[in-house]
Amino acid sequence: ISLKPYNTFGLEATAKHFVSVNSIASLQKVLVLPDYPKKFILGGGSNMLLTQNIEALVLHINIKGISVILEEENTVNIKASAGENWHEFVLWCLAHNYGGLENLSLIPGNVGTAPIQNIGAYGIELKDSFVSCEALEIATGSIKTFNKAACNFDYRNSIFKQEAKGQYIICSVTFQLTKNHHQLHTNYGAISNQLQKMSIDNPTIQDVSKAVIAIRQSKLPDPKEIGNSGSFFKNPIISTEAYKDLKMQFPNAPGYIISELEVKVPAGWLIEKAGFKGKRFGNYGVHKEQALVLVNYGHANGSDILKLAELIQLTVRRLFNIKIEAEVNLL
Ligand code: EPU
Repeated sequence: ISLKPYNTFGLEATAKHFVSVNSIASLQKVLVLPDYPKKFILGGGSNMLLTQNIEALVLHINIKGISVILEEENTVNIKASAGENWHEFVLWCLAHNYGGLENLSLIPGNVGTAPIQNIGAYGIELKDSFVSCEALEIATGSIKTFNKAACNFDYRNSIFKQEAKGQYIICSVTFQLTKNHHQLHTNYGAISNQLQKMSIDNPTIQDVSKAVIAIRQSKLPDPKEIGNSGSFFKNPIISTEAYKDLKMQFPNAPGYIISELEVKVPAGWLIEKAGFKGKRFGNYGVHKEQALVLVNYGHANGSDILKLAELIQLTVRRLFNIKIEAEVNLL
């Protein structure tokens, strides 16, 4: 079957064997099928670059369900199944007036894959409201609960990208959200500017979500129109020394101090400075509004996009002596 509808890059790779599972029980059954020793776990398909056809059995995680599992005076714990679309889940929380995820509106992908890279945007990361997740251990078929500490969350990183990589399938995620006294995170420049534009002085969580949606729509291509995987690269974290050197060469170089020793530099700026922003190479290229996003204009080849990514990495390395790493999974 074609995997085109299952990856937001819209790449035309195929799967020899494909099964969509809608419960933990059927997942456990499929995992022990003797004919298919190799499995490929597919979630929302929003963070991968398919460079070839898939020979392994593709397991599409389509487990649905959202429920309140604990309600207290000011907070509520919500358990969402892995196959729920992330943005629809955020909208469900907003409709129930549960706060905490509004800054993460409109991020493509599913609930189950969100913890793997600790999705983040506009001053918030998934880890800020994460309580735990249930994951199925592929080797044994047993369910294990990972609390926040066990997940080792970091910028676009978790245990599921490190030691536990490829060993678990996340089946559900539990979040702790607020019911009132919402602590809004509007200090991210773009959000406060957008709220001002919308003439909103005392924003609600729904307003913050609307602002985030407006900002994302202005900068990021809609995967339904132009295939993409959001930020293709992570923002590199460099030493304060290296940042000083960069500033000597490029006094305007932006950077966010993350500790006394380290500064995070927007990869989008480096890529733009390297001359790639808005560059089109036939049916693929670099998005014109945000250089961090590589796009498929239709019928592009995953391996061509990979070559472009490598060229960008090489050029950035040569110009700035900074290594940028892919954020998406290269397959
Ligand atoms: N910039 C440029 N040129 C560009 C793009 C960015 O110069 O083409 C510079 C500007 O100085 C701008 C700064 O980069 O002020 C930051 O840009 P932006 O606010 O767009 O954020 P980002 O660092 O490029 C990160 C996340 C996004 C997230 C935004 C907002 C990563 C890899 N990306 O991008 O996440 O939406 O912040 O919080 O950390 C994603 O992961 O798929 C994603 C879209």
